[in-house]
Amino acid sequence: MLTCVSKFCILNVMKSCQILLIDDEDDIRETLTTLLNMNGYTVTALPDGPSAIEEVKKEKYQMVITDLMLPEMNGIDIIKNIKEVDPDIQCIVITGYATVSTAVEAMKAGAFDYLMKPFNSSEIMMLIKRALEFQELHAENQQLKKNLESKYRFENLIGNSEGIKKVCSLIEKVAETDSTILILGESGTGKELVARTIHYNSHRKNRPLIPINCGAIPESLLESELFGHEKGAFTGASSTRIGRFELADSGSIFLDEIGEMSPALQVKLLRILQQREFERVGGTKTIKVDVRIIAATNIDLEKAVQIGKFREDLYYRINVIPIVIPPLRERIEDILLLAEYFLEYFNRTKKKSIKGFSQEAMNLLINYRWPGNIRELENLIERLVILKGDGIVYPEDLPDKVRIIRFEEGIIPLTIPDGGINLKDVVEEFENNLIVQALQKAQGVKNRAAQLLSLNRTTLVEKLKKKKLDYHINA
Ligand SMILES: Nc1ncnc2c1ncn2[C@@H]1O[C@H](COP(=O)(O)OP(=O)(O)OP(=O)(O)O)[C@@H](O)[C@H]1O
Ligand SMILES: [Mg+2]
Repeated sequence: MLTCVSKFCILNVMKSCQILLIDDEDDIRETLTTLLNMNGYTVTALPDGPSAIEEVKKEKYQMVITDLMLPEMNGIDIIKNIKEVDPDIQCIVITGYATVSTAVEAMKAGAFDYLMKPFNSSEIMMLIKRALEFQELHAENQQLKKNLESKYRFENLIGNSEGIKKVCSLIEKVAETDSTILILGESGTGKELVARTIHYNSHRKNRPLIPINCGAIPESLLESELFGHEKGAFTGASSTRIGRFELADSGSIFLDEIGEMSPALQVKLLRILQQREFERVGGTKTIKVDVRIIAATNIDLEKAVQIGKFREDLYYRINVIPIVIPPLRERIEDILLLAEYFLEYFNRTKKKSIKGFSQEAMNLLINYRWPGNIRELENLIERLVILKGDGIVYPEDLPDKVRIIRFEEGIIPLTIPDGGINLKDVVEEFENNLIVQALQKAQGVKNRAAQLLSLNRTTLVEKLKKKKLDYHINA
């Protein structure tokens, strides 16, 4: 029986919250409702399980307090059913007949805790408060976890170019599958980032993503790294070691620079790709694993196959779904987007305050070929932020190699060389190049090209005629 219901016992309520109370005894429903109302909770009180289950389907409740012994359905079954409708509801069981086994059963069904009758008002209020605090903490943790995952969500793959959009839509399609992925791209294009994005958007995201750089580990150690070894397998193997494939069980393995793998290891890899099983070095026991394979390389694997450096059968095994990341110079729309993203990131992490780039600096960034791709851009911005610290980035802040205007025919330095220049020719060349670029970007649509150059269409057409550039474009 509920005792000591005191109107003075008002605990500090965190926030208004909806509680569903289930008890077949009228006076308990009444007293408890009054107590909970007095403490700021909104209460719906019902006498049985079936009507309570219907109620949670209609309304959002933070908490259910249920009696254990009820005529139609007992408290444990009520909790099981309610949790199926809304797994986040906190459930508390109140009972006059608690035994250890019923308590354990209630917890197994998903109850937060149970309370023995008779209890006093402060006991139940403390329990409710604790349950709600726990619920809030749990929600916060879930949010934190989501944020962590979102580190590798698509938002982190910055870019607006067709190239990066294609990569994202492919990732979206394949992430949830268990298919083997081969990521291809020049150095610094984001292969590892794509691999992480795939893993953290797959059902394996709560299991490890184990990276291994096949090019960085000496050949003699790579086999033991991948498959582990038994104690005494070779000199120096003083204890058993678990390999990366075993560590990655039920997660993913990222085989970076797979093109660098020795022929002998390629054979072993082929076996694991086919059968998902292997033996540790020096071991006889066959170990089975469930691993998703994501591989990456910056070399032309097809060519490597042709010259006999990479096994053809292995190539076909890993080239199930290729994802090709275009180099940065082929997605110039992304350059400024990335530059600003890194600027914001390094300003924040290095506590600096560079405002942005001058128009000339932006033109230079767009014009540069970025042989080291995004990593090169990222490093450059990090250096700039550290060395400059604040203000606006001007051309003179950029390295010499970036301060060179690129043309199909060659390069024209921004600074005047000792031998001097012919201003008219250089300016003409510069203008021609920009017009050609605009037309190429607009796929020959003059209206669009004129827009890209902030010219009206007639001016552009006149310039084209004068410069005889139409022929050049169509050629
Ligand atoms: N689209 C992108 N958006 C934001 N950052 C990116 C993007 N692509 C790459 N990066 C960043 O650029 C850097 C290089 O990327 P990553 O290491 O994934 O390249 P990689 O292709 O694996 O290079 P390597 O071939 O040299 O190993 C990383 O810091 C990564 O976070
Ligand atoms: Mg890499």
